[in-house]
Amino acid sequence: MEHFTKILLLCLALAPTNGAPTHPHDAAADNGDTHATLPDRCEGIEFDAISPDEKGITFFFKGAHLWKGFHGPAQLSNESFKELDDIHHIGHVDAAFRMHNADNPDDHDHIYFFLDDKVFSYYNHTLEDGYPKEIQEDFPGVPTHLDAAVECPKGECMADSVLFFKGHDVHIYDITTKTVKTKTWSHLPACTSALRWLEHYYCFHGHNFTRFNPVSGEVSGTYPKDARNYFMKCPNFGHGGNSQAPKCSDVKIDAITTDDTGKTYFFAGPMYMRLDTHRDGLHAFPITRAWQEVTRGVDAVFSYTDKIYLIKNDQVYIYKATAHYTLVEGYPKSLKEELGVEGHVDAAFVCPNGHTVHIIQGQMIRDVDLTTTPRAVTRDLPMAMSDIDAALCSAEGINVFKGSQYYHYESAMALATSKSIPVAQNINSAMMGCQD
Ligand SMILES: *[C@@H]1O[C@H](CO)[C@@H](O)[C@H](O)[C@H]1NC(C)=O
Ligand SMILES: *[C@@H]1O[C@H](CO)[C@@H](O)[C@H](O)[C@H]1NC(C)=O
Ligand SMILES: *[C@@H]1O[C@H](CO)[C@@H](O)[C@H](O)[C@H]1NC(C)=O
Repeated sequence: MEHFTKILLLCLALAPTNGAPTHPHDAAADNGDTHATLPDRCEGIEFDAISPDEKGITFFFKGAHLWKGFHGPAQLSNESFKELDDIHHIGHVDAAFRMHNADNPDDHDHIYFFLDDKVFSYYNHTLEDGYPKEIQEDFPGVPTHLDAAVECPKGECMADSVLFFKGHDVHIYDITTKTVKTKTWSHLPACTSALRWLEHYYCFHGHNFTRFNPVSGEVSGTYPKDARNYFMKCPNFGHGGNSQAPKCSDVKIDAITTDDTGKTYFFAGPMYMRLDTHRDGLHAFPITRAWQEVTRGVDAVFSYTDKIYLIKNDQVYIYKATAHYTLVEGYPKSLKEELGVEGHVDAAFVCPNGHTVHIIQGQMIRDVDLTTTPRAVTRDLPMAMSDIDAALCSAEGINVFKGSQYYHYESAMALATSKSIPVAQNINSAMMGCQD
């Protein structure tokens, strides 16, 4: 536990799925003359644009070069996106973003590039028919010669939007209504590129970056930070120089839950990690970043309707899942008052579309009906397993976590009544982004 938490705190837990070479210096070592002029992002580069592709690999652009993912050497951009160069010969892009368009699968996940007054749309690294176009044609009201762009899906912004940066102005483009609202965020540095990564928004300037709120532009926390410590693997940079994900055999989680919108989070010590965004990589953040009042970690977490319940000691914190989690007024309340149980809670889960929370305490599984008040235990059964860490119910059944292993049950009933314990399976990198 201690070990895992410490590693989470110290490191970038970048998933191996980022598709980038993991040895940045291999290329440098054998480059000979041909690669001698490749730029080195560890020297501190101001990027022109940053965007993930449809596979979740983050591309960093500078001049005629790009970097794929968080590790590895530069390569020529025209090898990956050849038309950018064909048409313009200007050797750089102004801005890029990956479209998030829930209503239009034809645009969804396309990478859009902006060069002067033109826009290019790529999917699967192939230029779409009809492109390049004038920016005005695709994004009416958006200025030319942009500095940066970043997508902002509904839920994080008011509507599926794109934020276009030019100087200190941000042009917020609503994808559905094709309308633009302009704001001036003078407190934010002038962004030369912008990136949405794991629901967080980053403005890059010089070799630094500043995290901002995509709705208000507000910056909280200590910024700017040096990008080389976070977004790329550089010798002598990074948290303690360790950017390895923890070993799967060291994983021990405190709680896990999937909310109504399909977001899956696990919690370990003071950190949480979202698992369903696997495509873009996995990264641990402090629990307080999403759930400000929960400062001492959690014992158990479950989701019900549009709310998430976090349990620590004898307190229950209920948050409403809006664009940001907001603590419901009057909380935290005591376990006794909220759920009618007392004592330490090891795990808690609600199955999809269910109205019963199954609370595990030691060797007991207690059911509480969430549709009635006051809440009371409706069924109390001993189980074959004890001392579990966390449990998650999905359409496929229930996974019960204990240390670095988990046990699969068909249903809550099976968990409560089964006399034997299923075969233990090991938590693997595909599940938790750890190293096998
Ligand atoms: C890419 O750009 C380089 C340098 O500008 C050029 O030498 C090369 O021929 C280009 N490759 C393609 C595939 O266009
Ligand atoms: C993506 O492009 C590659 C080659 O450029 C092609 O082989 C593959 O079929 C394409 N995939 C899709 C889903 O279009
Ligand atoms: C980067 O941030 C540091 C402070 O963290 C600041 O001293 C420095 O001037 C910044 N450099 C650039 C190029 O923005």
